[in-house]
Amino acid sequence: MKVELTVNGESRLTEVEPRKSLLDCLRDNFNLNGAHAGCEHGVCGACTVLVDGQPVRSCLMFAVQADGYAITTIEGLTPAPGELSVIQDAFCETHGMQCGYCTPAMVLTAHALLQRNAAPTREEIVESISGNICRCTGYGQIVEAIALAADRLSRANAPQGGAVR
Ligand code: FES
Ligand code: FES
Repeated sequence: MKVELTVNGESRLTEVEPRKSLLDCLRDNFNLNGAHAGCEHGVCGACTVLVDGQPVRSCLMFAVQADGYAITTIEGLTPAPGELSVIQDAFCETHGMQCGYCTPAMVLTAHALLQRNAAPTREEIVESISGNICRCTGYGQIVEAIALAADRLSRANAPQGGAVR
């Protein structure tokens, strides 16, 4: 079947079998490998992408279901090629990643949180990532990274406003 997806702001036309997951479509058809395959049955959250701004497990969504929605992958969060977003930078600074397998999903989940809540409490940060498993168990540093990013973005955005990057 032909599907037209909006991925990271670009309209992309491709052909998929109806049973193909959005995760496999992003990786195989568009070479966007930042969405990781972990459990592939909705448990680990490693495959998280944003669908109209909301974190979604892309292993549980068929590519054909994504037709007409705006998909954001980790590749779409960087301000420019080779640069890091504020959230990614905070993950680096606080050692919010170890093997990095869960990291794209964690960063996208954090991005969605900070878009809707610019000043989350520690409890709200913990709750927001509660659907994402980090097999390296680096949760403390991940929470710290998100808190640091929230602080930096609130300072950066206070006078000018603007999108979270
Ligand atoms: S790979 Fe999708 S939830 Fe684990
Ligand atoms: S950093 Fe290894 S799974 Fe989270």
